[in-house]
Amino acid sequence: MLSSSQLKLLTITILILVSSCKGKKKEYHNLIHKIESQSAQYERDSIQNNDSFDIDELVAIEENGIHFYIQNRKINIKSYACSECHSKPVAQLHKEGLGKKAHWDITINHADTKTMACLSCHNGENMNDLQSITGDPIDFNKSYQLCSQCHNQEVKDWVGGAHGKNISGWKSERVSKLCVECHNPHQPQIAKRWPSRYNATMVEERK
Ligand code: HEC
Ligand code: HEC
Ligand code: HEC
Ligand code: HEC
Repeated sequence: MLSSSQLKLLTITILILVSSCKGKKKEYHNLIHKIESQSAQYERDSIQNNDSFDIDELVAIEENGIHFYIQNRKINIKSYACSECHSKPVAQLHKEGLGKKAHWDITINHADTKTMACLSCHNGENMNDLQSITGDPIDFNKSYQLCSQCHNQEVKDWVGGAHGKNISGWKSERVSKLCVECHNPHQPQIAKRWPSRYNATMVEERK
């Protein structure tokens, strides 16, 4: 026979088991529940959390007398070096009628298409570098220089440390995220999303 305390324990265990099974359902009871549930997916968010970086792969930046570092970008672009395929000018590749098979996944949704095309930023004859409006080469590791032609204020803020993100500690030298680590240059808008967490304090204050 079970004693009354053993019976209690058994009932509690069963209750816990039943309630934990219920929790597995993907059903939202209300909006707050949905926000809390969806926000869990932002844990490895590129804007909020610290990532680790490889000290040996840092690139030194010097702008207006301000020194800091960024991560080497070129080693992280899968299709780099571009010259593996772009050994001939783009115009010639077009003539060969390879069609949209290469880079079919890239579409521009940035500025007006009258003012911006692939070759506004890329050089059809030297794909391994980006190019400025005047046709000067810009290294892929310094792509912020490309952005600064049209977004000078944001780049100034970034150099000063006010826009973007520092991924090193406050004591050590600054390591900043490059523009393209947050904004896809082809579609730079930041996607709308759920609040990162449900603000319970705010609700209390509004009561
Ligand atoms: C696997 C081969 C391959 C690699 C690697 C590659 N490209 Fe291409 N790319 C092509 C081909 C083929 C075309 C021509 C496609 C066409 O005719 O529409 C092309 C066309 C382009 C164009 C012109 C698109 C247009 O519509 O005018 C740009 C810009 C471009 N590539 C940029 C790059 C950059 C930048 C890199 C490196 C970061 C790169 N490509 C790496 C194969 C490649
Ligand atoms: C506003 C400037 C700009 C325009 C316009 C632009 N690109 Fe890019 N593109 C960049 C920058 C900057 C990078 C490097 C991104 C990085 O560091 O991740 C890049 C990277 C790439 C890459 C290598 C990364 C990848 O996704 O494979 C390819 C290929 C490429 N661009 C092709 C194109 C093509 C094709 C077009 C036209 C349809 C185009 N780009 C238009 C700025 C631009
Ligand atoms: C040739 C000029 C030009 C260059 C180069 C350029 N941009 Fe833009 N960008 C624009 C224009 C024009 C807009 C649209 C502004 C608007 O709608 O108010 C824009 C919009 C943006 C936006 C705002 C999108 C939104 O609606 O929220 C971001 C972010 C951005 N660009 C980032 C970049 C980055 C990062 C680079 C460098 C890789 C870059 N841009 C290079 C001209 C440029
Ligand atoms: C750590 C991520 C991060 C980095 C790095 C970053 N940005 Fe942004 N940027 C943002 C966010 C977040 C916004 C706000 C987007 C919104 O309000 O929708 C933004 C907004 C912008 C806008 C739109 C400004 C406006 O008033 O609407 C531009 C243009 C821009 N960034 C350019 C740049 C450039 C150029 C660089 C590099 C020098 C850069 N960003 C680096 C995250 C970043």
